Amino acid sequence: MNMLLAVHCGAGDRKPTKKHLKTLGRALEIGYKKLIEGAKALDAVVAAIAVLEDSGIFNAGAGGILQMDGARRLDASLMDGSDLNAGSVIGLEGIRNPIKAARLVMDLPHVMLTNLGAHKIALAHHLEPLETPSGKIMAKLEKIRRTDTETGELYKRYFSTVGAVARDSERNVAAGASTGGVVAMLPGRVGDTPIIGAGVYADTRFGAISCTGTGEHIIRMSLAKEICMNIRNMPPRAAARLSLKNIVSIGGNAGIILLTEDGGAVIMHTTPYMASGYVTKRGCFVWEGMHSDK
Ligand code: GLY
Repeated sequence: MNMLLAVHCGAGDRKPTKKHLKTLGRALEIGYKKLIEGAKALDAVVAAIAVLEDSGIFNAGAGGILQMDGARRLDASLMDGSDLNAGSVIGLEGIRNPIKAARLVMDLPHVMLTNLGAHKIALAHHLEPLETPSGKIMAKLEKIRRTDTETGELYKRYFSTVGAVARDSERNVAAGASTGGVVAMLPGRVGDTPIIGAGVYADTRFGAISCTGTGEHIIRMSLAKEICMNIRNMPPRAAARLSLKNIVSIGGNAGIILLTEDGGAVIMHTTPYMASGYVTKRGCFVWEGMHSDK
């Protein structure tokens, strides 16, 4: 069975630029190189997501949006389908690559750490710090604070999350995601991304999935686990379509990338765009959105 890495850069209404797609392609190349070198799916997922966090052009890591009090609190999670080990960080401040911090949590006897402990562990392992938000970003937040626009409308102007799923040479799968959250969020708000079973899920017997979209709806549906379990009983595309339809019916929007146990991949979203792509030995493919599955 072929090794495969798939990446998404957030579902939304905003059309990805050439720069977004080029960066996505770079994340795929760097993650896939790890797989070719014999790395585990988990390591390829971390490598790909770290590229997107570092770029500063997506809503994750260096590009993460601010909470309404001006703090940048980042969320990320990872799951290894070979043993169901998982790690996540919630509201992490001042660290450039929350996905690397989530990886560190996997080596602890815990699954989730909030900023209090995650930050200490990240610093102890010399993870790169993240500078405080610039004046330009604070000005953007000020504009959001002043506007009467509904949060839902504001949300449409931003990408939500980045994520990756991979299958390695041992046929094991892994999933990960990283985000700055959603626009106009209250201080302390947590979305789906660091919640195992909501934003990500991986079990080598079934598949691996990474989600993006309105976190509140994704949490309420346990979207990642629901799709991962439904693919035992129905075709993967049908499982994804059913759950995404249900998300829309409760007022949300979402996108997913899914690898299945039999080697298949599904990319689907309810929004006009979701920059995404995948790479196998046949080549690297990148899109601004999978419009046929809207
Ligand atoms: N999907 C990202 C969030 O809701 O925080």
